[in-house]
Amino acid sequence: MPRKIPDSLLTGFVLIDRQHEQIYATFDDLMALLQDGSGKSQILETIAYVERHVLTNFDFEETAMKAYGYPHRVEHMAAHLILRENVKDIRQEVQEGNITPALVKKCREMLQDALFRHIAEHDLKMAPFLKDKNPNEDGWSL
Ligand SMILES: [Fe+2]
Ligand SMILES: [Fe+2]
Repeated sequence: MPRKIPDSLLTGFVLIDRQHEQIYATFDDLMALLQDGSGKSQILETIAYVERHVLTNFDFEETAMKAYGYPHRVEHMAAHLILRENVKDIRQEVQEGNITPALVKKCREMLQDALFRHIAEHDLKMAPFLKDKNPNEDGWSL
């Protein structure tokens, strides 16, 4: 799997794209560990990284949407809430059970499909609005 998100999912807001790349890189690590049948503790550690990068991105986007009065922020934040729960569920499932092919499939679907779909449906729509309000991304940092 390539360690970069597809160009079609680049939002043009550099900080957000960098955050998405981090999510993708840690997600890629997670999928590799799951497929190699690695130990649970290593998998859980990597899930924690994925979770941290996801939360950093969501918090950043939510702060920016509020700061600039993005008109679609309510539905965007509702979508984040579902994904936050999904990632938490995966962590709990790994904590409680065995790593089965079904779990690996679920991880791929929930993290990759859901996150990528989220970028396509929500982030690509939001980024031009933020960029328009703050073209140089002043005042924001990772
Ligand atoms: Fe988002
Ligand atoms: Fe995002």
